[in-house]
Amino acid sequence: MGQTLIYGRPAPGLIEVPVGALQVSPLVLGSSDLAKLEPGTADTALILAPPGTLERDYVIAQALRAVRVGGELTVFAPKDKGGSRLRKALESFGCEVFEEARRHHRFCQIERPHVLQRLDLALAAGAPRRLDDTGLWTQPGVFSWDRLDRGTELLLRTLPELKGRGADLGAGIGILALKVLTGEGVSDLVLVELDRRAVLAAEHNLDDPRVRVVWADVRQLEDQITGLDFVVMNPPFHDGGQEDRALGQAFIRTAAGLLRKGGVCWLTANRHLPYEAVLKDHFRRVDLRAEDGGYKIYEAQV
Ligand SMILES: C[S@@+](CC[C@H](N)C(=O)[O-])C[C@H]1O[C@@H](n2cnc3c(N)ncnc32)[C@H](O)[C@@H]1O
Repeated sequence: MGQTLIYGRPAPGLIEVPVGALQVSPLVLGSSDLAKLEPGTADTALILAPPGTLERDYVIAQALRAVRVGGELTVFAPKDKGGSRLRKALESFGCEVFEEARRHHRFCQIERPHVLQRLDLALAAGAPRRLDDTGLWTQPGVFSWDRLDRGTELLLRTLPELKGRGADLGAGIGILALKVLTGEGVSDLVLVELDRRAVLAAEHNLDDPRVRVVWADVRQLEDQITGLDFVVMNPPFHDGGQEDRALGQAFIRTAAGLLRKGGVCWLTANRHLPYEAVLKDHFRRVDLRAEDGGYKIYEAQV
């Protein structure tokens, strides 16, 4: 048996993933980059398709490129998260699709045809790029990839000039970091981010010797970073597409652990998220510094 590629982390029992399959999702630490695989070298690919159209078509196109002619691809997704659009997407590449429904998912199986349609278009549309309006590197699929998030925007407007050593947790393509680095008193800034695409974009966007970008899970930092003067963050509240309040709360606990006594955390949060109690549990002082358009900005000091 040759190489199987797996994109994403299907729920247990949803599909059989062979032992030794190569993980190629940018959201899994240590995964390989699908775009860097030699064409036609894989035998099979199992793709848990992401919901965004450009991102999904890019992943499918990269997988079609990586799998040999005659190899098998299974592309699947929850029915209400793009699953019902998979058949059409695959047919648009010139694939003949066998579709089945199971456990609220659609599974589309194809054999990699010799001739493919619109492969280059999909590869170009989903590729990393520098946006003309902002001059920033980004890629479809990363958080708020082509527009400024409103929570981020409110934090940018509210942040004071920071000093010393700091971290940006869940840093995305580095928008908050860019603002923080305008402060001359900032000596070091570490960006922690789970999405490898965002990590690469942030590295392009932040050409500054004070910066270190780390591909890591904020929940697993342990003692790698300590004694910081400040943390900035717009914590995620989705994990694998599901709302996950515990994720944002874990970011808050981690931020408190990274700071020296007296260090401050600036964070932005959607107003409906229950962060205040966990902030008060882990910080000595918690102040609401701004509120607008459904978002709240807190400054919290340990
Ligand atoms: C709400 S976005 C904020 C991005 C950026 N700071 C901004 O304001 O534009 C949250 C970011 O956290 C990242 N993320 C999600 N889970 C993570 C985790 N466990 N560890 C590190 N980063 C994570 C996401 O990929 C996303 O880029």
